[in-house]
Amino acid sequence: MSLFRITRTLPEDATGAALRADVLGGLTRSPKTLPPKWFYDARGSELFEQITELPEYYPTRAEREIIVDRAGDIAAATGARTLVELGSGSSEKTRHLIEALTGLDTYVPVDVSASALEQAGRALTEAHPGLHVHALIADFTAALALPDTPGPRLAALLGGTVGNLLPAERAAFLASVRGLLAPGDALLLGTDLVKDESVLVPAYDDAAGVTAAFNKNVLSVIDRELGADFDPGAFEHVALWDARNEWVEMRLRARTAQTVKIPALNLAVEFAAGEEMRTEVSAKFREEGVRSELSAAGLELTHWWTDAEGRFALSLSEVR
Ligand code: SAH
Ligand code: AVI
Repeated sequence: MSLFRITRTLPEDATGAALRADVLGGLTRSPKTLPPKWFYDARGSELFEQITELPEYYPTRAEREIIVDRAGDIAAATGARTLVELGSGSSEKTRHLIEALTGLDTYVPVDVSASALEQAGRALTEAHPGLHVHALIADFTAALALPDTPGPRLAALLGGTVGNLLPAERAAFLASVRGLLAPGDALLLGTDLVKDESVLVPAYDDAAGVTAAFNKNVLSVIDRELGADFDPGAFEHVALWDARNEWVEMRLRARTAQTVKIPALNLAVEFAAGEEMRTEVSAKFREEGVRSELSAAGLELTHWWTDAEGRFALSLSEVR
């Protein structure tokens, strides 16, 4: 009997309806915006994996270093029998954690990317016979219905993905994660840390142009799903450090004035030459900020670990 199960928690058209609502809302406001979760179709997930191997993109390597060093501490502190990972992607770093969690019964990877879940789920089931893997295709910013699995439960959000949420979305997200946890459960949170712009900007504007292709992929998703006629080549990738908000911002800048038709929305969108549309924020954190955001959500930070160079942090918190 296979111990790998994949469940779509959303009705078939929910993704389409959500994409239509986000594109309509985002492209009819000024300045225009698109939410980053739409990067991740099969090609976007593959491009993200390539980003994690770029020389300029340090967060994955820094977080892996912490996970490898601290997996034993995390296992001892949590005794987790169920690991729920939100935005699990390839689950590549998570393997180290799964190996250390000796009493683990079930791994629940949650992601909007079905292709990432399928690949990761099959590889993990092969590597860990006996581990139940119950993958959920779901949006972690919406209400999540988790399978009934044994506690204690460890929820994890790795990679710094929490930084891709705007502050108000982050507060709502952390409160909803708190709602999934019972006393004795824990949250493992990866956060990229504030550092010099000269390190941050190249991490989001690499010399090989992989991040540019990832950024523009959102236009291809809208073309395919909504019949739009975005020409990704007509837009330029922009990455900048916003020192006031302490986040890196990715934008797409229209190279020329143009009109884009989106038949599924019965919409024509005008871009002025040079107009910029925000496609992602990637917030960078400080320990005190993480502690207070967790506290506002009813979670108490108990452990704070960084890599040797102090670039990235992994924190463990428990229900207060
Ligand atoms: N945790 C992995 C992957 C990070 S990439 C790592 O650390 O390398 C971000 C992942 O979150 C992608 O796999 C993407 O598909 C997923 N994701 C982004 N927004 C999401 C949302 N709202 N709901 C569920 N998954 C989401
Ligand atoms: C998934 N997330 C944490 C990545 C980040 O660094 O904000 C997404 C990404 N965007 C550009 N490069 C990587």
